[in-house]
Amino acid sequence: MTILAIDQGTTSTRAIVFDESLRPLTTAQCEFKQHFPRSGWVEHDAREIWATVEQTVTKAAADHRIQAIGITNQRETVVLWDRKTGEPLHNAIVWQDRRTARFCEELHAGGHEARITEATGLLIDPYFSATKLKWLLDEVPDARARAERGELAFGTIDSFLIWKLTGGAHVTDATNACRTMLYNIGTQGWDAEICALLDIPMTLLPEVLDNAAEFGTTGILGYDVPILGVAGDQQAATIGQACFRPGMLKSTYGTGCFALLNTGAERCASSHRLLTTIAYRLDGEVTYALEGSIFVAGAVVQWLRDSLGIIQDAAETQALAEQADPNQEIVLVPAFTGLGAPWWQPDTRGAMFGLTRGTGPAEFARAALESVGYQTRDLLQAMRADWSGSADVLRVDGGMARSDWAMQFLADILGAQVDRPQVTETTALGAAWLAGMKAGLCGGMEDFAQSWDLERRFDPRMEEAERDRRYALWTRAVKATVGV
Ligand code: G3P
Repeated sequence: MTILAIDQGTTSTRAIVFDESLRPLTTAQCEFKQHFPRSGWVEHDAREIWATVEQTVTKAAADHRIQAIGITNQRETVVLWDRKTGEPLHNAIVWQDRRTARFCEELHAGGHEARITEATGLLIDPYFSATKLKWLLDEVPDARARAERGELAFGTIDSFLIWKLTGGAHVTDATNACRTMLYNIGTQGWDAEICALLDIPMTLLPEVLDNAAEFGTTGILGYDVPILGVAGDQQAATIGQACFRPGMLKSTYGTGCFALLNTGAERCASSHRLLTTIAYRLDGEVTYALEGSIFVAGAVVQWLRDSLGIIQDAAETQALAEQADPNQEIVLVPAFTGLGAPWWQPDTRGAMFGLTRGTGPAEFARAALESVGYQTRDLLQAMRADWSGSADVLRVDGGMARSDWAMQFLADILGAQVDRPQVTETTALGAAWLAGMKAGLCGGMEDFAQSWDLERRFDPRMEEAERDRRYALWTRAVKATVGV
């Protein structure tokens, strides 16, 4: 009995086959092209994404009989397609894209943030799908008229893939819907008032289902397989890390870093510029989370490799960082695409502080890894201020979580325990569990939580005074970068 998870991320697509004990059996991965048509713009060719799904799914599942499919995906990224042909009208506009910053400022200036936050749990920022969709409707010739005639469909990546896989089911799940800035997380429905404010015809929007539900059936493998689990990647990682109790917290280090704190059945409104979001919705019951979103985490290591050329491979970063001169206190603020939580400054750009003539590649590498720790502390500090039940343990996953050095620094600067699980494929695991549970192939929440295994715990070793001194350096650097 096998379950297939499709993990459609920002830079690559992966398909992983799991057995009914949720052990990974085979994996196929395919990278795809990133398009940067202008400064601050980021696009993907949705047709290419679909091709990578076809390739990886058929490769990973070649020697298995798949019984259920789970999908997890980069969130917020927007696709607009033709309902007749399934062809996208334009490249997908990616979550990192900042092209709608001006329009977001206008929404702020118009006094709309309180209503939007109340309904969606989000802040007004180009990060979310809504203003990107509006841009497509305004800028792609004929798009608005065709949308009004009901000829087009909008979706986040999950929704587009389900359409392609099933030949026309137009659905999404609550965790993806809640990242669009069009979905009311209180009433659990599309928000007509926000749609009207942004001039978005509601006929474009998909039906919103629970995370474990019947999303449709696909014949991609030559036989019928039901799609039974769907979740945005950060929520899938929260599930994969079994953060099922209020107070449990995970942080995933992919392109960006996303920390989610389970706050239970009650939504917690943030006073510290975090997002209120849906962690998961099962059997119609919503569990909420506070989310801190950082746009650059693993991307800072790519920058060391691709732009500075000081490493050949991401895995070299730790060894280089370890050679850094401990007397140099270099602080890197990696605001390459603006700053996310808790700053929300789309126009800010990166900066380095404390450079001397002796500063070299090793100090850059250390500052890059440390920047991720400092940013995570910004998030956790805001979470603790917003919600008194925050746990003292952080469960970590994603590529950068493999670096012992980075995880030790994280524990040191947070003053909290950092737990790394045995299975680091937590995003795909979360999607596989949702599908397997719905299919009756795997156990329920309790069983799944029991199966979570610790690989290594990092305890804080830094003196409190030193931790505070270092964090104060960071805070000064960020404030100087943002200009506050
Ligand atoms: O919100 C964006 C997030 O879903 C992207 O995650 O892992 O593809 O960088 P990732």
